[in-house]
Amino acid sequence: MRAALVPSPVVVITGKLMRSHVPGMVASIPHRRQLSGKRFVVGADQRVFPYDRQMPLIFVGGVPRSGTTLMRAMLDAHPEVRCGQETRVIPRILQMRSHWLKSQKESVRLEEAGLSKEVLDSAIAAFCLEVIARHGEPAPRLCNKDPLTLKSAAYLAELFPNAKFIFMLRDGRATVHSIISRKVTITGFDLSSYRQCLGKWNAAVQVMHGQCREVGPARCLMVPYEQLVLHPRLWMARVLAFLDVPWNESVLHHDQLINKPGGVVLSRVERSSDQVMKPVNAEALSKWVGQIPEDVVRDMAAVAPMLAVLGYDPAANPPAYGRPDAAVADNTERVRAQRRLWEQRALSLLSLQRPALPGVPVTTHAS
Ligand code: A3P
Repeated sequence: MRAALVPSPVVVITGKLMRSHVPGMVASIPHRRQLSGKRFVVGADQRVFPYDRQMPLIFVGGVPRSGTTLMRAMLDAHPEVRCGQETRVIPRILQMRSHWLKSQKESVRLEEAGLSKEVLDSAIAAFCLEVIARHGEPAPRLCNKDPLTLKSAAYLAELFPNAKFIFMLRDGRATVHSIISRKVTITGFDLSSYRQCLGKWNAAVQVMHGQCREVGPARCLMVPYEQLVLHPRLWMARVLAFLDVPWNESVLHHDQLINKPGGVVLSRVERSSDQVMKPVNAEALSKWVGQIPEDVVRDMAAVAPMLAVLGYDPAANPPAYGRPDAAVADNTERVRAQRRLWEQRALSLLSLQRPALPGVPVTTHAS
């Protein structure tokens, strides 16, 4: 019955995360697809959502542990935006392409085999698009958050001419402290050395910063984590205006929509899920102070020159990030006072339902 409602079926998604291929329609697909050239998903309410390279995709990225999950959850709370879990495969295919390009031998082989730039671009765009469109429920605005895609922002901007980028920045000392203290494995980061990790942070953020500038301010917005957390209303208003998405109060209450229908879907295995289920709070801002070895603190300006470029004083421990809005101060107080309650909530939401992945650390590939 549903098939009859669908003019040119490629894939049908009915409701949250429920996918079904249309039986008996396979033979007609190639012909129809040639005619329409359209790919789309269908919502639970039968609304049809076409997707193609011209659509205004949203990419959220930054160095891991810079508040990227918080940003994507706040956007996901908006009724018109779906910004789901990390896909992990999109940054990998982008990384593979950059390896192919770096090798002259490989580039020649690909050209000789007929894999022109145009062929590769269209294949990579189709891969990214399929993953983004089909790994969650349909929505008028689709968004992807895989932190490291920001390293390829200029290429993504070329593949998707109407896409926009949100670049999450954070004080590198806090990012590195988060990586080390929470033992977040990222390829290339040596978790036993603050100095090495700060160097890696610096290199990664420099590439992303360059990419964001290349894409330009009309398409790439830098959002400092500290400012988002201290002034969420102001910053989400800026973010939504930048994305041409109408204001909606729900973005300030993402925590109330966790795993609710049409709300914010959290992965049970992502490292930030137990933090992002809390309301926006300022607990994490200065946890790094006093944790970094003295010799590294002393050499900070040289170890991580991007700190100053991004407006973080390398000599201030900590810099004056600012005072939180009243609502954030309130949230922070509640989070602090009810620590046990939050731990229990995280356990019941995440650990108890966690699929068996014994001892497998989740690694983010950075290079
Ligand atoms: P810490 O590890 O310093 O606590 P990412 O998602 O990019 O990996 O970033 C993780 C950081 O975002 C974590 O920093 C985490 O505390 C912070 N974060 C997640 N949810 C948050 C919330 N609700 N309010 C404030 N910060 C949050």
